[in-house]
Amino acid sequence: MDLANLLKTTDPAILLAIASGAMLIASLVLGVGFTVGGRALSSWLRATAPSEKEVDAAEKRYLQDFIKSQATSKPFSMTPTNEPVLISLVCFLGAYLASMLFITPPAVKEPENPNKPKPVVLTVVKDAAKAKKVASELPAGNAANGKVLYEDKGCVGCHTLDGKASVGPSFQGVFTRAASRKPEYGAKEYVYESVVNPNAYVVDGFQQGIMPNNYNTQFKPQEIADLLAWLEANYK
Ligand code: HEC
Repeated sequence: MDLANLLKTTDPAILLAIASGAMLIASLVLGVGFTVGGRALSSWLRATAPSEKEVDAAEKRYLQDFIKSQATSKPFSMTPTNEPVLISLVCFLGAYLASMLFITPPAVKEPENPNKPKPVVLTVVKDAAKAKKVASELPAGNAANGKVLYEDKGCVGCHTLDGKASVGPSFQGVFTRAASRKPEYGAKEYVYESVVNPNAYVVDGFQQGIMPNNYNTQFKPQEIADLLAWLEANYK
């Protein structure tokens, strides 16, 4: 018969009685043990403790040493007590300073100035309706400045004005061709799109991806209007 079975078959009242008896015996044993142990310990302490005379002598010596040390003490000196504290402090400071070399405090964010002008980025148009809208909203252009921009913005490096193809098609007649390049696109919209989004239409016989495709960030609306006015006036 195993323990589980025995527990199941035995009357709970008897189990309770047995448990209580066991606890009683355990407490008795512990109580007697502590009492006997405690007595033994206290008599041992009493036997080994220094006599009253010895305690007095030790106290006197301690006081004398203390007074002597006070009389001769410097404002500060390393002692076995403060040494570990000081060393820890120096280590902490060293670690802190070293960490400052590697940790950059988060930059203080300047409050956004609502009056600060946002950088102008020309809309990169992708369809006829949008191109028409954007082109029609451009300010009136100054053709003379358009010529300056042709040189300053580097168009001159790839587009001739005399009809000879270079890296890109010549600008001669560009405004006329532009009117029929793409269905639904007028000349102005087409040229506008060709500048801000050169890959939208790749001219036959020329390579895609050569003309810079970041002119939308290089031109202000007034400038692109000037460029268009110049092309329209001279290269129709
Ligand atoms: C690094 C050379 C390069 C530069 C710089 C460049 N382009 Fe182009 N451009 C090209 C090439 C190549 C094409 C033809 C391929 C295409 O259509 O994308 C082209 C096409 C064009 C077209 C279409 C012409 C047509 O006949 O349909 C226009 C308009 C144009 N460029 C305007 C400009 C303007 C304006 C600038 C200056 C702001 C400029 N490009 C700067 C290389 C360049």
